[in-house]
Amino acid sequence: MATTAPTGSPPLQPSLTHSPPPRKLTSVKALSESPGLSSIPSIYTFPKQPNHEPVSDTKEPIPTIDFSLLISSNPDERSKTIRELGKACRDWGFFMVTNHGVPERMMKAMIEVCREFFELTEEEKGECEGKHVLDPIRYGTSFNPSVDKILYWRDYLKIFQHPAFHSPSNPPSFREIALDYSKRTRGVMKEIVRGISESLGLEDKYIEKASNLENCLQIMIANLYPPCPQPELAMGLPAHSDHGLLTLLIQNDTVGLQVLHKDKWVNIHPIPNSFLANIGDHIEILSHGKYKSVLHQAVVNDRDVRISIALAHGPAADAAVSPAPMLLEDVQNPLAYQAMKYKEYVELQQSNKLDGKSCLEHIRNRGI
Ligand code: OGA
Ligand code: NI
Repeated sequence: MATTAPTGSPPLQPSLTHSPPPRKLTSVKALSESPGLSSIPSIYTFPKQPNHEPVSDTKEPIPTIDFSLLISSNPDERSKTIRELGKACRDWGFFMVTNHGVPERMMKAMIEVCREFFELTEEEKGECEGKHVLDPIRYGTSFNPSVDKILYWRDYLKIFQHPAFHSPSNPPSFREIALDYSKRTRGVMKEIVRGISESLGLEDKYIEKASNLENCLQIMIANLYPPCPQPELAMGLPAHSDHGLLTLLIQNDTVGLQVLHKDKWVNIHPIPNSFLANIGDHIEILSHGKYKSVLHQAVVNDRDVRISIALAHGPAADAAVSPAPMLLEDVQNPLAYQAMKYKEYVELQQSNKLDGKSCLEHIRNRGI
């Protein structure tokens, strides 16, 4: 399977302090707007790979979780929804969340203000560049240009939203919109995490307590994928799983996200105004692999700008989660994970190349 990490790939680099400073690069936004651009520079060209093979035209839709039933005071409705949530985590690792209560205008405003950010001059955006992968505000292109051999057709803005809230000062309305949006999204995340906990047969607050969710690290990742003249040769983001517990993603009306399901890439067409939720590596760790973080990637197109905004929710920065002991009771050879603080895990992922589930593999089976 082309999507698993190639065997014999070099070990991850745990240290950041010695990594070279990122090269100064043009944004893909500026590149895509170069007059008469009809082909892409070779640094963006991927050799034909199975990632570009035809995508499954499965009729099986991605599961949908009705959030209003998850928080219902009717115990039957709630337990039925928790069972559906458990099935969605087991079968797909990805699901849509409807009736979540976050106003449509708030989601639209968040997308628009991110669009405005990307439309600032290169100099203005450059003020948000950041130097270290754990800097709370970081603007850039590709994933990690200091190690990406081929660049991704993507610009990004990453901002820590919790426990301390950060915002670029430009556009001026960014702060207020992001503050509201990140708070509301955390509320949705917390209920889903409780539901996931229960669906595993754990107490509803188990994951919350084990990961110190009060102080959860919440990171906003705004992605810009401008039109690309040769979309079949470029990639927006490679196959990867997300760090953390739960990612909640919204996008403008352009598709581009693909999820690996039963060994096939599936194009995701979200229901308008829903969240696209996916479980991250730390749910896989906590659940002892009962629920697995799922590979996904972003492809690009030659017509429309795509904007997606992912809110990644992880344990507290200093929390090191491990499998819930109750889930290990009948397991003969429990998996071990090298204890690692969440912030160290994020640092590991962000300072290497984005490569499937290489970070999770890196810490697995090393504890004993
Ligand atoms: C991410 C991600 C997918 C997308 O930011 O981690 O997977 O559709 N984004 O932009
Ligand atoms: Ni992702």
